[in-house]
Amino acid sequence: PRPILLTRHGESLDNVRGRIGGDTVISDAGELYAKKLANFVEKRLKSERAASIWTSTLQRTIQSASPIVGFPKIQWRALDEINAGVCDGMTYEEIKKNMPEEYEARKKDKLRYRYPRGESYLDVIQRLEPVIIELERQRGPVVVISHQAVLRALYAYFADRPLKEIPHIEVPLHTIIEIQMGVSGVQEKRYKLMD
Ligand code: G3H
Repeated sequence: PRPILLTRHGESLDNVRGRIGGDTVISDAGELYAKKLANFVEKRLKSERAASIWTSTLQRTIQSASPIVGFPKIQWRALDEINAGVCDGMTYEEIKKNMPEEYEARKKDKLRYRYPRGESYLDVIQRLEPVIIELERQRGPVVVISHQAVLRALYAYFADRPLKEIPHIEVPLHTIIEIQMGVSGVQEKRYKLMD
């Protein structure tokens, strides 16, 4: 059985400010997570050949991968965070205040709600299809460093969770979710590397 390790990027400056989307760098806490992640990955995958590290094209995931050495790294646009369109860079408070209809519509149906000029969860799920095909094809372990909305969808696929739950699955920061696919089904372990 080969593991798939799923993790969000280390805390970003926008995480600290409560802003969605964007392409900021990681915070000091995020940098610390990146180092802990590298340690973990190097120990966990030491004897594994054909392992690879996948990130999105956004700075915060690339930075989070950067202390990891010894494995090939691949950037996927399909692993980028859900595109919040006109709401990119806003806080949830600002959306609620300035675009109350959008806020309510999303609350009502978070799975199908599409940000104006952006994406819905269903859009994200669809664009992940080639990533999932490639993950299934890999012979070695894969470390996927991505974003909350994207990881909710990937996790749901492997953990066999229903579509309607996807937008509400908890994928905390600074935690590795290890998925093992064996003959007897899927096993999951979580490693919280910091608070
Ligand atoms: O920035 C986007 C968030 O990671 C996704 O969170 O879909 O719960 O608003 P949300």
